Amino acid sequence: MIVGVLKEARAGESRVAATPATIEQIRKLGYDVVVASGAGVAAGFTDGAYEAAGATVGDAAAADVVLGVNAPTPSQLDRVRPEATVIALFAPAFDPAMVEDLSRRPFTALSMDAVPRISRAQSMDVLSSMANIAGYRAVIEAAHEFGRFFTGQVTAAGKVPPAKVLVAGAGVAGLAAIGASGSLGAIVRATDPRPEVADQVRSLGGEYLSIESPEVEVSKTGYAKEMGDDYKAREVELYAAQCREVDIVITTALIPGRPAPTLITAEMVASMKPGSVIVDMAAANGGNVEGTVKGGKTVTENGVTIIGYTDLAGRLPAQASQLYGTNLVNLLKLMTPGRDGSLVLDWDDPVQRSITVVRRGESAWPPPPVQVSAAPAPAPAAEQAKPEKAPATARQKFGGVALGALALFLTAAFAPAALLPHVTVFVLAIVIGFYVIGHVHHALHTPLMSVTNAISGIIVVGALLQIGHTSTAVTVLSFVAILLASINVFGGFAVTRRMLAMFNRS
Ligand SMILES: NC(=O)c1ccc[n+]([C@@H]2O[C@H](COP(=O)([O-])OP(=O)(O)OC[C@H]3O[C@@H](n4cnc5c(N)ncnc54)[C@H](O)[C@@H]3O)[C@@H](O)[C@H]2O)c1
Repeated sequence: MIVGVLKEARAGESRVAATPATIEQIRKLGYDVVVASGAGVAAGFTDGAYEAAGATVGDAAAADVVLGVNAPTPSQLDRVRPEATVIALFAPAFDPAMVEDLSRRPFTALSMDAVPRISRAQSMDVLSSMANIAGYRAVIEAAHEFGRFFTGQVTAAGKVPPAKVLVAGAGVAGLAAIGASGSLGAIVRATDPRPEVADQVRSLGGEYLSIESPEVEVSKTGYAKEMGDDYKAREVELYAAQCREVDIVITTALIPGRPAPTLITAEMVASMKPGSVIVDMAAANGGNVEGTVKGGKTVTENGVTIIGYTDLAGRLPAQASQLYGTNLVNLLKLMTPGRDGSLVLDWDDPVQRSITVVRRGESAWPPPPVQVSAAPAPAPAAEQAKPEKAPATARQKFGGVALGALALFLTAAFAPAALLPHVTVFVLAIVIGFYVIGHVHHALHTPLMSVTNAISGIIVVGALLQIGHTSTAVTVLSFVAILLASINVFGGFAVTRRMLAMFNRS
């Protein structure tokens, strides 16, 4: 089959659905590729670069599989062949007219923005890859308008305080914005009605500002719900106080299926310092800030710049095209099981079913819901009701100490003299080890396990010295010790190697 890459028709769109690098991957799946002339120019990819990657330049709309970023124009769709499959961001959930139009056409249309947010589909999750870029770019736009350092400095010419950044909403875009602001040296704070994001915010060096309200609960779907009056009242207090203090506000708050909540009022904007910057990343969905101009930039009377750009991801066009193109390649891999250049739509696969808007001219929208679970499922009621283990009473503690003392006394009285120092060291090692390892953060347990390889090494050396002992029991014990300690050593190395590979750029 032939895969066609369209030239985007939407004004201002700089992204393209395939880069030379992704073309090579598509060709490895057995497809031939045709790219529309000039398709990648705005993203920095020339026709020559596509040809060097093995594509030909021609009529992409007439291919068997047509790839686009935005929904193709009616004239592009008119050229699509009846048996073809068109894959783009059709936004069917927000554009019923588009669904209507597509269902009058004979081909199959798949929408990348409908990929379910489940672990298995992460490699195709365009919303996340674009939100990640947009969050980063929001910080760059803010830094550009701010016109001052983000990082604090102490120089011979004076002291520069670090900028303070508030991020509202710590989803994919918010976390990217926290990471980017922090790496520029700013003091970053973030808030979100989903308390489970607190650790994620802290892991990126941000401070999580929690809003104490009985309405706050761990989300079962990974998305926020519309909050009630109590939360909203406390939220207003927090934003009002923060706006007086911070230099940059980046808002990303969205609630699926609803207009974006208004978080920053005109009054709060008026309380901000002159020169402050707000980036309203929810501008396309109605905005989180009063006074945002969708797609544009405005400066208030008190000198606060409000940015409402809706093309933040497209402002890094080469990178955005590469990530979008990779999402498409991953979908093509899923839909090309034979790696033979022929696309197969598996109707029973929840991912493929979810993205199908129209199948051979028949509307398939909306798809059946897919269970999305980002937070761990709550424990069953019976388990929750289970009483916690009661702490040991003073009597039990005394009994334990008395038993230990008796055991030590008996060892000292009856065991060979050489055993006592060994037992003492062993007991002390258990006590110290219990307290030291018990206080190591969970996140560091795997590296800690790798470090304990040293202990396994000592065991191996000790057991090797004993293995030739005349007693069969000692030899067997030594053999078992060498076996177990070796499993620990090699297992530790294997785990560490896997962890390091996760951070390997290549
Ligand atoms: N494939 C996957 O498994 C996958 C992929 C992406 C995201 N997810 C889950 O979805 C979550 C949200 O993703 P998203 O970034 O696309 O969400 P989103 O764009 O719908 O929302 C952005 C953020 O706004 C927050 N928000 C809503 N109301 C708010 C308010 N009043 N004040 C402040 N913040 C508010 C939300 O909690 C969310 O964190 C992720 O954190 C993750 O748990 C899962």
